[in-house]
Amino acid sequence: MTQISSLRGLGVSFALAAFAAASPASATNFKIAVGDGAGGTQEALGVAFIKALEEKSGGEHTATLFLNGQLGSEQDTVNDAAMGMLDMSILAINNVTPFSPTVGTLTLPYVIQSVEDAETLTQGEIGQELIANTINDAGVRIIGWAYSGFRVLTNSKHPVTTVEDLQDLVVRVPKNEIMIESYRSWGVNPTPMAWSETFAGLQQGVVDGQDNPYMTINAMRFYEVQKYVTDWRYIFSIEPLIISESVFEGLSEEDQKILLDAGAAATEFSARFLREKEGEIKERLVAAGMEISTPADNEQEFITLATTKVWPEFYDQIGGVEELNKVLVSLGRDPVSE
Ligand code: MLT
Repeated sequence: MTQISSLRGLGVSFALAAFAAASPASATNFKIAVGDGAGGTQEALGVAFIKALEEKSGGEHTATLFLNGQLGSEQDTVNDAAMGMLDMSILAINNVTPFSPTVGTLTLPYVIQSVEDAETLTQGEIGQELIANTINDAGVRIIGWAYSGFRVLTNSKHPVTTVEDLQDLVVRVPKNEIMIESYRSWGVNPTPMAWSETFAGLQQGVVDGQDNPYMTINAMRFYEVQKYVTDWRYIFSIEPLIISESVFEGLSEEDQKILLDAGAAATEFSARFLREKEGEIKERLVAAGMEISTPADNEQEFITLATTKVWPEFYDQIGGVEELNKVLVSLGRDPVSE
């Protein structure tokens, strides 16, 4: 059974109704699961959110971050929040997609090409549509966005600059169909693995590589077990702050507004944090021994394969080619035909 059908099987609306009564309407200390370790964009978003929450509620509400996947794998936290067993989670959008397929538009390879694109999509009309879909499909509401930068490829074996170089590598990917198919379009079969197991998988040589933003590689200390970085741009990592819809619905209108405003303030902080810190973090990784290469041919080989093979496979899941075209046009790019 897929995760989506298992969630639907549970009947998200039933679960919402059942847990609404138990939701912490008077909660003043929300629990926030965080997939990554300290020092990354997830923690930065969380800290900014808590600060804004405390300010805007006059100290009545606060929240506590549980870093490093202490409250479960990122995908498990979506289930737990949907069931009202967890208040909030900060996680990569690719780990929300299995529960709400239309957010896959934000993970399609080579769609988002800059932090400005990420801001345009998440903070505009498209972002509002995706938030509504996520409430309906997954029982969680996105109230803030962290911007983490492009997911670069790391591995322990050799530099990768061409599709050919990838062929002998075992690469870990999240349990996300779009990302799995992206690697397949380049001729390799990646290994889906939960985020919480990835460091150990790299350390023990179960997998040779993975992809994540510089900020995340640093926060997770991957430089201790990975040497080669390929500075490609196939996915820009967006990491939402989600709240259990049943917990949100159990709050007063005034408190709901406080949470939404705190989320907006944290989102704004996150974009600034990335712009200010990413260069410095990249230098730190090089100083720690990582070697960065850029793909040959301006990445064209990767781009052509991924966009021609992967995009059409996911039109249905994201709501049709029209949905992708809405995104492309809003970013000033040409629409594609089916
Ligand atoms: C993943 O690779 O599963 C996620 O991007 C990890 C993260 O949230 O940083």
